[in-house]
Amino acid sequence: MNSERNGILGVSGLQAMNTLRTTPVEFAPLSQEFARDPYPIYAALRGQPQLQYFAAYDMWLVPWHKDVSTILSNPDMVRSLDHQIPAEEIAARQVKDNWHDMPYHSRFVQFSMLDSDGATHDRLRSLIATYFGPSAIHRIEASVRAFVDQQLGELADANRIEFVEDFAAHIPGRAIGALMGVPAEDCALLRAWSERIVQFFDIDRSDEKKELAERTTRDFYLYLKQLESERRRQPADDLLSRLVGLQDRGLLTEDEFISTCMLIVMAGHGSTLDVLASGLHTLLRFPGEMNRLRADPGLMGTAVQEMFRFESPLPFFHRYARQDASVHGQEFRCGTRFGLLYGSANRDPTIFAEPDTFDVARRPNRHKAFGGGAHFCLGNHLARLNMDIVFTSLLQRFETIDLVSDPEYKRGLSVRGPKTLEISCSIG
Ligand code: HEM
Repeated sequence: MNSERNGILGVSGLQAMNTLRTTPVEFAPLSQEFARDPYPIYAALRGQPQLQYFAAYDMWLVPWHKDVSTILSNPDMVRSLDHQIPAEEIAARQVKDNWHDMPYHSRFVQFSMLDSDGATHDRLRSLIATYFGPSAIHRIEASVRAFVDQQLGELADANRIEFVEDFAAHIPGRAIGALMGVPAEDCALLRAWSERIVQFFDIDRSDEKKELAERTTRDFYLYLKQLESERRRQPADDLLSRLVGLQDRGLLTEDEFISTCMLIVMAGHGSTLDVLASGLHTLLRFPGEMNRLRADPGLMGTAVQEMFRFESPLPFFHRYARQDASVHGQEFRCGTRFGLLYGSANRDPTIFAEPDTFDVARRPNRHKAFGGGAHFCLGNHLARLNMDIVFTSLLQRFETIDLVSDPEYKRGLSVRGPKTLEISCSIG
């Protein structure tokens, strides 16, 4: 959901009004070193007296929990400045960024609830918020549990598993599909579509990736149109039917219907996959905590929250200041872009005792993995339910789980998760 380019830290005289001269931290979020272990770099950023400017993304990095929280709850810190910019300027930007020949992508992916603010955002969000609440999510719990058990059952004879491909990759599409009402046999498509569309935001952008993202958005759109007419003919007890109903009552436009469905799939898929794998990797790195959780399954709720804190799968999002603003005692002009480093905020020692220690019983745990304020993750109940079900079943089914080799983590500032995770396991 964010684009990434390589670059270096510098200091912009244009947007900060009273910048101190500091030694910039070397910040290379696309490097292998950052992928391996970003936390020393986050700590160095937190150790600076002021915000650092990251020229490659034209944004100021906010690494402290307190300032991230303050920005998230400030209505003048927004996701998009589009409503303040003349339409021609937006069009010119799209041409510059090669968006202009991506009609489906720009119509349904670039503009969504996540990238709107104020009244438009609040209207779109309030129309669907109840369908993501605990009781709505509870309705799909049994079907997700049954699917997880079935997937684990298929692995029961294998004593070596590549956890990402063999298991975790099947879970998010099925859970999101169950909530939306996508037929079970089509849920695997959600993964492929979401990955192909999201890869366009990737670090290594290319014309091929752009074409693939555009083609896939069109396929996804046509598929959703087909489901839409099926649900209109024959409504069911699912999110798609409710969204169709909202559309028929004139509360949601056609484009809003499609972009909301796509957002739900794209926001929920990669993030869930990554935290399933990083969560297991973390338990394997802290075997004492895994044993503690085995001995006391009542800790699962706090353990899952700690997995989100410890390796936040979406560690960075941006905000723009739509008024002149003060952050960490520094003044910034209207239009300044800030990079909120959730992954760093979640290791801030002023908030978390021993932040680099994984503690399955940590409480309170005011992590920022789901953001905060107006855009606080709508899917957080579903995300936590998936984790709860998977880790409960995994620990029940396998008496031992061991790491075969240290995994490589994905490169980039916007994502955090192992590419693969080779484990060996045994049944009791
Ligand atoms: C599994 C881990 C997940 C993480 C770490 C996560 C994290 C986040 C974060 C940080 C935001 C706010 C972005 C910002 O601050 O600008 C967000 C928004 C959102 N998330 Fe999640 N998410 C996860 C799973 C899900 C799932 C499973 C769904 C739905 C199926 C979902 C749907 C959404 C939606 C619709 C928004 C936009 C909310 C708005 O703009 O008001 N997320 N998520």
